[in-house]
Formats: sequence, C-alpha cells, structure tokens
Amino acid sequence: MFLLISVLKRCGVCMGLVGLGMLVFTTPLHAQQRLIPLEKLQSGLAFTGPEILDLQADDFANPALPAMDKGGKLWKQVAGKSDKSCQSCHGETSTSMKGVATRYPAIDKASGQLFNLEDRIRQCRQKNQKASEWPLESDELLAMTLFVTSASNGMPIQVRIDGKAQSHFEAGQKIFMTRQGQMNLACTQCHDQRYGIKLFTDKLSQGQPNAYPAYRIEWQRLASLERRLRFCYTGVKAEIPAWGHKDMRDISLYLMWRAQGLNIEVPSVRK
Ligand code: HEC
Ligand code: HEC
Repeated sequence: MFLLISVLKRCGVCMGLVGLGMLVFTTPLHAQQRLIPLEKLQSGLAFTGPEILDLQADDFANPALPAMDKGGKLWKQVAGKSDKSCQSCHGETSTSMKGVATRYPAIDKASGQLFNLEDRIRQCRQKNQKASEWPLESDELLAMTLFVTSASNGMPIQVRIDGKAQSHFEAGQKIFMTRQGQMNLACTQCHDQRYGIKLFTDKLSQGQPNAYPAYRIEWQRLASLERRLRFCYTGVKAEIPAWGHKDMRDISLYLMWRAQGLNIEVPSVRK
C-alpha cells in the first residue's frame, strides 16, 4: 500500500515526506526477529551531513564539550549528607563506569523497575550520596549522564532482555511496530523501512540510540534520548507520554537491543 503524505509540519519546520511508501505489517513478528541485520547497523552519524561530522570531530568546537566538562566537575564535587563525591565512592569513571552505559536500560534489583542510566544516576545520588534530587533533563543530570556514558565510548551496546526485562522489551517492540498519531505512522516505517531516504536536505537515519545524550543544534542544548523520542512523537502528531513514563523506558530498551554491537559514540552532535 502506498500512502502519499505531502507535508509534515513540526515546530514551524516543514518536513517533506512525499512519496514515503508505507508498508503494513501483516505477519506477526517473532519476539526477537531483527528487521535490520546486525551487520547493517549504522550510527546516526552515517546519515548526517559533513558539517555535523566536522563539528563532532572537532575537539574545540564540539558544542557538547562544555557539558562533558561540567559532568567531570560534578563527578568530583562533594555533595549531600554523605559528604562524598561520586568519585569518593566510585573512583575514576574510566575504570568504575567503563561499559556501564552499554547495558542500560536494565532492571533495578531493589525496585524491580526498568531504569535507564539517568534513573540510575538519580537514584544513586539520592540513595547513596544522600544529596538533592536532580530532575529529569536538568543540566546536571544530562551532563553527568554524558560524562558517565563517555567512559563507554567505542564499546559495543549489549543490553539484557531476559528475566524481568523481557516484558519491557516486548512492550517496547510493540510500540515501535504500532502506527500512532494523526500521521498514523510507526517508528519502524521510518527507521527500519525508510532509512537513507532524503527528507529535504537530511537523510532519515536508523533511529539508533548510541549517541545520547547528544547536543542538538536546533535546541541549542544537550538532550536525552527520551527528549529525542518525544520529538518523534510530535512528528507523527501522537500523544506524548509523561516524562519518565514506562513506555519511554521500554522503547529505549528495544532500541538498545536493536542496536546491539553498535558502539557508544559521545559527545555527539545532531541537527
Ligand atoms: C515520520 C518519520 C519518523 C517516525 C515515524 C519516527 N521518527 Fe524517529 N526520527 C525521525 C527523524 C526525521 C529524525 C531525525 C533525523 C534522523 O536521525 O533520522 C529521527 C530521529 C530519531 C532518533 C535519533 C537518531 C540519532 O542518531 O540521533 C531516534 C532514536 C528515533 N528517531 C527513534 C524513533 C522512535 C522510537 C519512533 C517511534 C516512537 C520514531 N523515531 C518515529 C523521523 C521519524
Ligand atoms: C556513598 C557512596 C556513593 C556515592 C557518593 C555515589 N555512589 Fe554510585 N553507587 C554506589 C554503590 C554502592 C553502587 C552499587 C549498589 C547500589 O545500587 O546502591 C552504586 C551504583 C552506581 C551506578 C550503577 C553502576 C552499574 O554498574 O550499573 C551508577 C551509574 C552510579 N552509581 C553513579 C553515581 C554517580 C553519578 C554518583 C554521583 C552523583 C554516585 N554514583 C555517587 C555508591 C555511591
């Protein structure tokens, strides 16, 4: 079936989706079937233009670097009733946090809930450091998440989807495959079936999660994966779940499973 969608209006920016051929899933997916084979996985960087590539590679001009510095400073800063810094308990991130970002979202043993890395950092700050809460999307939390993630730079993503994580994985996969919003589009239709297609000047990517938190030029700030996902919800004119909603964690787990073997790539820049 081919649907012609002429123009998608987002935040005043028109995104041409002319001729986007839309397939409908007729056969149910096997629980762990991969729509993009592992050897075909590509980071979002492969779909951006040369100006983003240059900016990201530049050790001085990369706009995400101030946030990295901030994260590094916060790591060493004593805070809260514990009178300790992250470093007092964990030491250097290069050893203690190496590989940590490759395996989140993961089940938190204490609560049984699915935590992304931001949730884990917030919890540690409150429970162990006994310090004030860092709200979701706060500059502090994003900077720290970026800094902790950078200790896994170049390491392949490998999340667990067994045990208690399995139902989250399945829920995330279901959302990814389900059409939603006024545009009636599913994530899979853009990011599995149509990546590489040009929408005006930009190519649609595979929607990989390996570069987050990323600096987004349009927003002039660092943004979490959740913020990016919310923007895709806006793109298809769908109702956006509340911040920190389980749906967002479930999709993130599915995205990370789907990105298995892709390397963590921070600090990164997106348009
Ligand atoms: C109408 C097509 C469309 C749909 C449907 C869509 N997205 Fe996107 N998505 C985009 C565009 C455009 C971008 C920005 C450019 C790019 O990376 O492709 C993007 C970016 C992303 C990124 C960031 C990739 C990177 O490297 O920075 C992720 C992750 C993502 N989408 C996930 C999703 C998920 C999950 C859904 C379903 C809830 C979804 N998208 C639905 C068009 C879409
Ligand atoms: C008082 C000591 C203490 C302080 C201070 C502390 N942590 Fe932790 N952190 C721990 C302990 C103990 C664990 C593992 C057990 C648990 O979950 O409580 C942990 C676990 C973690 C994990 C999960 C690691 C993994 O392998 O999954 C992250 C991430 C983390 N901490 C980040 C931080 C950050 C960021 C800070 C500073 C904002 C911080 N921690 C401050 C003691 C501390």
